[in-house]
Amino acid sequence: MAKIKSVFYCTACGGETAKWQGRCPACGAWNTIEEHIEKPMPAGRVKSAPVGMSRSAQRLSQVSTDREIRFSTGIGELDRVLGGGAVAGSLVLVGGAPGIGKSTLLLQICNSLSTGRKVLYVSGEESEKQLKLRAERVGVQPEELFILSETRLSDIMEAIEEVQPDVLIADSIQTLYNELNEATPGSVSQVKDCTMTLMQLSKSQGITVFVVGHINKDGAIAGPKVLEHMVDCVLYFEGDPNSAYRLLRAAKNRFGSTNEIGVFEMGDCGLIEVPNPSQMLLDGRPEGASGTCVACVMEGTRPVLAEVQALVSKTTFNVPRRTADGFDFNRAALLLAVAEKRGGMKLNVFDAYINVIGGLRLDEPGADLPVVLAVASSYRDQVIDHELVAIGEIGLTGEIRSVSHINQRLAEVARLGFKKCIIPKNTSEKLEIPEGLTVYRVKNLREAIEMAM
Ligand code: TYD
Ligand code: MG
Repeated sequence: MAKIKSVFYCTACGGETAKWQGRCPACGAWNTIEEHIEKPMPAGRVKSAPVGMSRSAQRLSQVSTDREIRFSTGIGELDRVLGGGAVAGSLVLVGGAPGIGKSTLLLQICNSLSTGRKVLYVSGEESEKQLKLRAERVGVQPEELFILSETRLSDIMEAIEEVQPDVLIADSIQTLYNELNEATPGSVSQVKDCTMTLMQLSKSQGITVFVVGHINKDGAIAGPKVLEHMVDCVLYFEGDPNSAYRLLRAAKNRFGSTNEIGVFEMGDCGLIEVPNPSQMLLDGRPEGASGTCVACVMEGTRPVLAEVQALVSKTTFNVPRRTADGFDFNRAALLLAVAEKRGGMKLNVFDAYINVIGGLRLDEPGADLPVVLAVASSYRDQVIDHELVAIGEIGLTGEIRSVSHINQRLAEVARLGFKKCIIPKNTSEKLEIPEGLTVYRVKNLREAIEMAM
């Protein structure tokens, strides 16, 4: 007979240890280790090979792919992040802070998903009545949508057996529990157990499963590592709860790239797609103020414009303070050092605060130059032209290096009505400059700063 085994997981990082400890050896968090009893799986559940997966090895060339496996969710921005639509038989985890709009988004996709498909929406958080009210509010009233307010896994599995859905939505994974497991709902062991069951269900019956996961205060889905390894796709729904804009991004995607972002606006009738995010990110840009510069970065396949702000002020500390919001902190520190050494700014006695407006994260090399220009503008208290965009990577010697997709970026810059653009002197593509746009090609940081101010 198989033995019952006990393992210990960290609720913060998902790290595994053999015995209980006060402190997680992997992430160093205190009091986060929980016991998890690993019961042997019931016979018959373990060995069954999922449908569409063969038990013996076969030649790659002989694997058939003729069945159309992708379908649209009816929301273009979500399809984009998923890599061109949802994949049948995949499990997608949608993470985000409470109240950000995860339930709303998933309820909204039911509308188009349920044409020609059966959708089962299981909520462990809201009653059927609440779900109905919300559905009415966001204009979702399809025939083939089944809702169930339930948290016990075995009852949910029964409902799945009965309804035979093509798409299952589980909201949220932290509320579900497997009664065979003694741990409390929301613990790593329960979350892992329930996700594993849903994963097996999705693979064995070809059901597309969307799972909602709340994130804890550190921004990780409870038991993050365990879950991210198990599922096919992890999407994060982000945004400032006080602003109406929401960004959806993929942290992991077995069927597509993880660079794409989807942009939404939360309105009175649910989420509305924002097909033109640059416009939204530049809304309310200050005029005639120093310390701001517009960047153009590639988010997956599309160029997006965003405003970078910097504030440089004389420090009152021994070590000057630096913060970077929406930009990598270490990269910011490196750029400030380059600005000091190659751009002639005495930043060692100045605090520097960098902020990207609109909740976007600029983690692409092309954003280096606008960041340093915003810093330089604040340092000198000189205004950068309102109609100027800067694109370029900065090297350690202060040289401006070429970036990818320069023509696509220039087209977006011109489309949004900007008149001037600073770009690297060397470009890998042959330039196609849009009408009405003046392009300044710079070799190094000093040239760029002189050109911008
Ligand atoms: P919700 O989808 O319940 O968030 P989550 O499932 O991520 O916890 O969204 C809740 C918030 O969205 C709530 O603060 C109200 C707001 N909201 C609107 O502004 N408009 C709407 O049409 C809906 C349905 C929600
Ligand atoms: Mg919810």
